[in-house]
Amino acid sequence: MDYRFLGHTGLRVSELCLGAMTFGRQNEATEEQSHAMLDRFVAAGGNFIDTANVYSTGISEEIVGKWLRRQRRDDLVIATKVRFPMGTGPNDLGLSRKHILSSVEASLKRLQTDYIDLYQVHCWDPATPLEESLSTLNDLVRRGTVRYLGVSNFNGWQLQRALDLSREKGWEEFVCLQPQYNLLCRSTEWELIPISIREGLGVIPWSPLRGGWLSGKFHRGMSAPPDDSRVKLAEEKDWGEKWSAYNNEHTWAVLDALHAVASKTGKSAAQVALNWLLRKPGVTAPIIGARSMPQLEANLGSSGWILSEEHVRHLDDASALQPPYPYDFIAKAAGPRQA
Ligand SMILES: NC(=O)c1ccc[n+]([C@@H]2O[C@H](COP(=O)([O-])OP(=O)(O)OC[C@H]3O[C@@H](n4cnc5c(N)ncnc54)[C@H](OP(=O)(O)O)[C@@H]3O)[C@@H](O)[C@H]2O)c1
Repeated sequence: MDYRFLGHTGLRVSELCLGAMTFGRQNEATEEQSHAMLDRFVAAGGNFIDTANVYSTGISEEIVGKWLRRQRRDDLVIATKVRFPMGTGPNDLGLSRKHILSSVEASLKRLQTDYIDLYQVHCWDPATPLEESLSTLNDLVRRGTVRYLGVSNFNGWQLQRALDLSREKGWEEFVCLQPQYNLLCRSTEWELIPISIREGLGVIPWSPLRGGWLSGKFHRGMSAPPDDSRVKLAEEKDWGEKWSAYNNEHTWAVLDALHAVASKTGKSAAQVALNWLLRKPGVTAPIIGARSMPQLEANLGSSGWILSEEHVRHLDDASALQPPYPYDFIAKAAGPRQA
């Protein structure tokens, strides 16, 4: 597996990051399966692992921690997150100084480590002044608890404001963005990718297979998701990847193109969807998700080869979105001078 610098830092990460959201989650991976997948990922050359305090309310971090204590800690880049509720109390969520400081201590305990490589805010917090969150994160880097800062689920102005404020104050800046980005989610390209390229942020796309939709198990003409899939469970739980949200003509057209490219290249749909992301400007490392060893094995096969320009263009065209105002207006006005 190749290594890439995380944005403009000197940190090298594997071009695939292993996501730990399936670890310990209902219908997904047990602790034993998760440890086997972590071993396999590292044997394949992976060094980059992403979890969050909120995944199965701490269980994912605990599973990673039990495995981590048997590894050479410094060989690995461990990323986790803070923001979503970890209890029912009024201060058990958000990006306040109090919640960030108690959360980082709890994550260190569950992960059985004394530092976190990449500490990410999981989403914008409208209730806390940005100065309060960013100064607290700066303190964590200065005291060595955290090596680098990252951000997930901010919109364009929120990300740019956070970068500018840290710079004005001389605080540690976010060096990495974790957005949703995949063949069924390309609005990420309207603002977040250009900002990341311009500001030198690493980009680590979450749900690169849109929670299973791009994994090869969905085809035009299906009337319901497979029984044991996350997409089926998502309907009951009202999660983002639910069947009713994606059972539409745009999805089926993207999947037609994905399956056509898969059959022409002899790769699986999941491998093509992941390789397309690996080719996209600005992307450092898609965060692969798997709930079993065969899924992990298949997804590891997305690296080590290159999708042709022609196949990338076919997928780009099929998955293109009509941008809303002001993106459409600005693009038209730019005309031939557009970069
Ligand atoms: N920052 C955020 O807000 C955020 C949000 C979500 C995720 N994440 C991060 O992104 C990581 C990846 O997200 P994700 O798990 O949603 O990734 P994903 O790759 O989009 O979806 C993973 C799911 O797709 C199916 N799948 C994956 N590979 C497959 C294969 N080769 N063949 C058949 N089915 C396959 C499996 O579900 P089924 O078998 O059930 O279909 C699997 O659980 C997470 O672990 C987490 O670290 C972050």
